[in-house]
Amino acid sequence: MEKSTTFKWHNKIWFVVLVLSFGWLFLHYAYFTVNADDNIFIFLGHRFATTSNFHGSSHYRLPFNKDIHFAREEPQYDRPPVTNVNTLLPEKKDENVRDHVQSLDTMVNEKRHENGRGSFENVNTIEYEKKRANGIKKHRHRHRKVLPKKNHEVENVGMFRNVSKENHFSKDNNKVDLVGAKSTAKKHEGMKNGDIVTSKHPCAGRYIYVHEIPSRFNEDMLKNCASLNKWTNMCDFTSNLGLGPVIEDSTSVFLKRGWFKTSQFLLEVIFHNRMTQYKCLTKDSTIASAIYVPYYAGLDVSRYLWFSNASMKDADSLDLVKWLREKPEWRKMWGRDHFMVAGRITWDFRRIKRDSEDWGNQLLVLPETKNMTVLVIEKSPWANNDFAIPYPTYFHPSRVDQVFSWLRKMRKQKRPYLFCFAGAPRPGREDSIRGHLFNQCRIAEKKCKLLECQVREESKCHQPAYVMEVFQSSEFCLQPPGDSYTRRSIFDSILAGCIPVFFHPGSAYIQYLWHLPKDYTTYSVFISEKDVQDGKVSIEKILSEIPKAKVRYMRAEIIKLIPSIIYTDPRFRLDAVEDAFDVTIKRVLERVDKLRKGVDSSLRVKEELTWKHSLSGIVGEQKWDSFFVKKAG
Ligand SMILES: *[C@@H]1O[C@H](CO)[C@@H](O)[C@H](O)[C@H]1NC(C)=O
Ligand SMILES: *[C@@H]1O[C@H](CO)[C@@H](O)[C@H](O)[C@H]1NC(C)=O
Ligand SMILES: *[C@@H]1O[C@H](CO)[C@@H](O)[C@H](O)[C@H]1NC(C)=O
Repeated sequence: MEKSTTFKWHNKIWFVVLVLSFGWLFLHYAYFTVNADDNIFIFLGHRFATTSNFHGSSHYRLPFNKDIHFAREEPQYDRPPVTNVNTLLPEKKDENVRDHVQSLDTMVNEKRHENGRGSFENVNTIEYEKKRANGIKKHRHRHRKVLPKKNHEVENVGMFRNVSKENHFSKDNNKVDLVGAKSTAKKHEGMKNGDIVTSKHPCAGRYIYVHEIPSRFNEDMLKNCASLNKWTNMCDFTSNLGLGPVIEDSTSVFLKRGWFKTSQFLLEVIFHNRMTQYKCLTKDSTIASAIYVPYYAGLDVSRYLWFSNASMKDADSLDLVKWLREKPEWRKMWGRDHFMVAGRITWDFRRIKRDSEDWGNQLLVLPETKNMTVLVIEKSPWANNDFAIPYPTYFHPSRVDQVFSWLRKMRKQKRPYLFCFAGAPRPGREDSIRGHLFNQCRIAEKKCKLLECQVREESKCHQPAYVMEVFQSSEFCLQPPGDSYTRRSIFDSILAGCIPVFFHPGSAYIQYLWHLPKDYTTYSVFISEKDVQDGKVSIEKILSEIPKAKVRYMRAEIIKLIPSIIYTDPRFRLDAVEDAFDVTIKRVLERVDKLRKGVDSSLRVKEELTWKHSLSGIVGEQKWDSFFVKKAG
């Protein structure tokens, strides 16, 4: 009798314990699922909003159910996508978190001290990085979408994120900085007489005026897109404001959104559209720090590169510079404050002789463009009026979280191949090392993935998914010169987190000085093309002997570079990402400012020595002299 009651009693206790634990679990579950996405994040969001860059981001609402997985995977405090911080902060992963935070603190203070009001961007991102180091995980950022309006009338939505206590700028910036709207233009009238220089207005020194050039220099070319190129119908690529068709991809190579089949030759169009999102546009050229000429120079010349005579090739570019020269804006600085994009390699615009059958037009050797800043995808080492900016890649994110997800995906990517090479042989060019690379890759067998473009896999070479998959599966990507020094593939490989291997310093080191670190050893490997030609080196051996830690470090550097080499979707504004466009504009403004003040030393150097000067500021003997002895092109 007694036994059975105890037994029952025991049972009851267990039952109660069980019920209680289930109840507790249930409450926990309910609290975190119901509240977590809302209240907790709102709460955290508010706290952050007072100190960090990321206001307006108090919580992260998932737009669609199917996105949940994607969004949950989203890293909390990922590496900030802003380049200036990348250069400020070494990789601190392995260090003690507290040390990290302390060093960041010092940096914040130093930065504040050093720069007064100017550098809040740095400061904020450092704060941001600090939170990441502290392991705060819940915060999500949601960016603001702004749809562009016609005629550059972009409404300004908070010039800078009005968030931080460190933000020293006046707060009236929430409304008007943007320009384009008539009322704003009026407001600027009052600022003409020099107050703009002294005012603390956040756009001071950053206004850009977009020249309203006749439509035959830009839009009409897009209307006649079928005649832009003898070989390719460019109409396929002009959609989505120049980004090209959306990539519908069922594999896991890309993310769900933000990917386009972009042509490398539409940078002018992408850049022009991206300009509509620029925060300091003005309709008043007298207050502008720089003047943008939205001429589609590359599309223009591409119509005539093959089968046309010199006068045909030059006609439109000559008309354009004549038009510019006759405008009142020109006389102010004789074009030194003008800039434009010519979205092809510089050699397409550098025909020396006036009446000759040589390649290209004369755009970049005209006296007018000699005074301008011209942005190209490959610059001449021996010229001082062109500046190289990244080729467009396939990734054009419309939201900040797409960038974060991509960086994270590339960090975690499995890379079974030591190296890869995607390209076509150049049998016609004796000096080409591509044949050697094919051989070296074949010899390396399973360690190298070869994507041979002109033979069997021709079509695959033009499939973004296939090319990107190869790059994403490799530690190193070989980037030899092709018909010219540079290739679009350089930027596709960086985007894929694949460390580029260069064979000529003209491929990147003297090119993208605005976007890539000066110290090339931090993000790439250099193997001299002469050594490859002479059969002196084994690429496989060199690459496999690089210590694993060094490889990891370089990959981390490469991945940090991604935000600053992509062009974000021009239909959206991603405040937290400083993309290739932002970096370019910053540098153009800096250059024009120096020219205005007469302190730009680059123009005092003999033009042939430009590459040396821009690399090191020194024009004496250098280790790469032998690579740049004769003028190519
Ligand atoms: C933004 O600026 C306004 C005006 O100075 C200020 O009242 C507000 O608190 C700021 N917002 C945040 C989130 O700091
Ligand atoms: C160049 O070609 C165009 C069109 O074919 C022709 O009209 C023009 O006369 C040519 N100019 C010269 C200098 O040959
Ligand atoms: C280029 O600038 C110089 C002054 O720096 C000026 O003398 C010259 O006329 C300008 N060229 C043109 C075509 O305006």
